[in-house]
Amino acid sequence: MFYAIFAALALVAVLVPRSVHAQAAKDMMIERGRYIFAVAGGCACHTIPDGTPHVGGRAFPIPFGTVYATNITSDKETGLGSWSDKEILNAMTKGVRPNGEKLLPVMPYEAYSGMAEEDLKAVIAYLRTLKPARKETPRLKSWLPFSRSLIVPLWLKLFGRFSTPPPKAPKGGIERGRYLVDHVSLCGDCHTPRNRLGAPRRARYLAGTAGGLLGEPISNITPDKRTGIGEWSRDDIADLTLTGFKPNLDNVQGLMEEVIEGVSQGYKNMTREDALAIADYLKSAQPISNKIN
Ligand code: HEC
Repeated sequence: MFYAIFAALALVAVLVPRSVHAQAAKDMMIERGRYIFAVAGGCACHTIPDGTPHVGGRAFPIPFGTVYATNITSDKETGLGSWSDKEILNAMTKGVRPNGEKLLPVMPYEAYSGMAEEDLKAVIAYLRTLKPARKETPRLKSWLPFSRSLIVPLWLKLFGRFSTPPPKAPKGGIERGRYLVDHVSLCGDCHTPRNRLGAPRRARYLAGTAGGLLGEPISNITPDKRTGIGEWSRDDIADLTLTGFKPNLDNVQGLMEEVIEGVSQGYKNMTREDALAIADYLKSAQPISNKIN
């Protein structure tokens, strides 16, 4: 009896601090994930403006139909609740669902393939905390048969560009800015024009377009002095990223406003340090003359 009690106490002594420790580590991971989610613009595409947060259903036009952003809450049947971490990771970085189905590259998995593992793990831990909300995602509408099984792999073969993630996310400087612009905040995903098949025109990196993803004009954010943001200071660029206000006190609208405001979290929750790293990287990019509007 004495030994049994002693053994039980010893076990408690060993286990409790460990689980307290594990919980603290998990909380820290979720906090980190919340930050990455903010820097990723609150994954705003997965929310219909003014709709229920994160339940998807938002329509995006593709060259052969319409695709709908999915429910990313932890609902077990219609969201990610029953997916493993590895399954979420595969969807985010390879574009493959647990059942092997291919995601349309409207979901920027090519860009996210360059996200550091520590950031991906953290953002997945945060996703798990999104309150479950039941909403079935509408099915892909496409006039091309076998869009997922044949067209997506073909498209990726022609245009896909996956990245090798850095072992750790760069901590500061222009390298940090490049990492955020290309693999987390995805400024280039919206600000780089696409060809008629929806593939980015890489020679026009960040040069804007009169007709973006939703048909709206998207600014040239290269440092071209006349048609881009070459005259903006690094603080001007950081201010816009954090508040939506331009140096002339006009404010941005549409998708740009959405990613700054975010859903739960957005660019507005970014540290000034990160916003300045983004600004410094944009200032170092190739200037391209392209007048929008
Ligand atoms: C979801 C799409 C999207 C993403 C992601 C995005 N932008 Fe934008 N951005 C836009 C749109 C659309 C506009 C035009 C808004 C308007 O005209 O009011 C814009 C406008 C801007 C402008 C204003 C330029 C000007 O001349 O007025 C700047 C600067 C800018 N974005 C920087 C960024 C940076 C930096 C990032 C990444 C941290 C980023 N954007 C990510 C869609 C996006």
